[in-house]
Amino acid sequence: MRLSPSRTERAAAVSTYKTIIEPFRIKSVEPIKFTTRGERAAALDAAGHNVFKLHAEDVLIDLLTDSGTGAMSSQQWGALMQGDESYAGSRSFYRFRDAAQALTGYAHIIPTHQGRAAERILFHTQVRAGQIVPNNNHFDTTRANIEAEGAEARDLVIAEGRVPSTVHPFKGNIDLAALEALLEEDRARGGGLVPLVMLTITNNSGGGQPVSLANIRGVRALCDRFGKPFILDACRFAENAYFIKLREDGQGHRSPLEIAREIFSLADGCTMSAKKDGLANIGGFLALNNAAWADAARNLLILTEGFPTYGGLAGYDLEAIARGLEEVVDEAYLRYRIRSTAYLAEKVASAGVPIIQPAGGHAIYLDARALLPHIPPLAYPGIALANALYLEGGVRGVEIGTVMFGRQPDGGEVPAPMDLVRLAIPRRVYTQSHIDYVAEVVVSVAQQAQGMRGYRLVSSPPVLRHFTATFARLPGR
Ligand code: F0G
Repeated sequence: MRLSPSRTERAAAVSTYKTIIEPFRIKSVEPIKFTTRGERAAALDAAGHNVFKLHAEDVLIDLLTDSGTGAMSSQQWGALMQGDESYAGSRSFYRFRDAAQALTGYAHIIPTHQGRAAERILFHTQVRAGQIVPNNNHFDTTRANIEAEGAEARDLVIAEGRVPSTVHPFKGNIDLAALEALLEEDRARGGGLVPLVMLTITNNSGGGQPVSLANIRGVRALCDRFGKPFILDACRFAENAYFIKLREDGQGHRSPLEIAREIFSLADGCTMSAKKDGLANIGGFLALNNAAWADAARNLLILTEGFPTYGGLAGYDLEAIARGLEEVVDEAYLRYRIRSTAYLAEKVASAGVPIIQPAGGHAIYLDARALLPHIPPLAYPGIALANALYLEGGVRGVEIGTVMFGRQPDGGEVPAPMDLVRLAIPRRVYTQSHIDYVAEVVVSVAQQAQGMRGYRLVSSPPVLRHFTATFARLPGR
């Protein structure tokens, strides 16, 4: 008997039946706490109506983020005990480096404690005040790290990517004509305006939407023509690769790993948060082909993160990431992952709740502006909806809208392009009945939309205000 099936046999095995199941069983469980509506109202008051400030223990289903919240596999937990905690040259670093290199192909792998540390190191060493860094959509930390250098973070997602209800298979695509125009302008001004081109896969701020391989190839071609480095924000590369397999012509026969490798090969490096598609609770890396850039990054790394063979991580973290990067491209895993997000989207959308269509990879995005047209953007419909979801059912999501993106570098405030509430699904954590419950809560809250009121800011820090700002509910009509 032949015990190891071929890849084709394995692929057939996962697709014989219609029902897509979790490709794992549960070895260890963590209780979740039920609270009363009164307790939740008091918790919101104490948190200044900012769900970031809730005690996680008081949350029943926590969809605040998919970052660092996944369940590690028994393989990963086992690997923790293999961690080599040597300060310099630890075995775990080489294991981590080899896994990241086998995936990305990049020459230099620089560990960081999470994605934003990689961003800060890249931008601080390569971006100057007055420059412009284009992207499909910058994530909040990416934008903040670019603005901290006095540069501009410019979003160039395609027009379809800005309209929640428009269905498009690759709503995360960057507008290649707009990118070309910016690079022409850069050339006309001597080439110092754009230090590098970024592309976020999947496009988190734009709804967790994928970028097509054709679009990534298009960015590569423009970067070649204008002599610009191309850096991926690769946090959710595996989900993006799987969407390409599902949706892009001529890609269906390829494995997610093959597609991911091609994506990485088209760029010159990446920033990575291993808290997402690294399937780890902490960690990240900056990967680069350019040796001079890598040297500059390592020098700053030593100053702020740690020695280049640990970068602010424990040896056991490096072990967990190394295995996570291998597990995440497993086709059965990705099939379940993408399907479970789509399942939640179908349930709430079929009840008439407006969401970004199609569903993202790691999250669904409720369109708070469409659901609450009586609450103007500057009265924060996303904050109103996030509060209501917690009050109603102990479900925690996050506003991705005017509070997160409306503040301008000059201190003013304008409506963000969209006011969304993201329900992000931690990897391998919740079961289908948890998700059924979430759908029920969302639909029930949506039915009460007309009675919901806006909020005003009570306190707000100057940078990344959404994490710690506090709010008060506006008086009733
Ligand atoms: N880039 C993207 C696209 C992200 O989604 C995130 C984090 C980062 C960079 C920064 O990575 O958190 O490891 O420093 N996103 C999380 C979220 C926080 O909830 O979407 P980090």
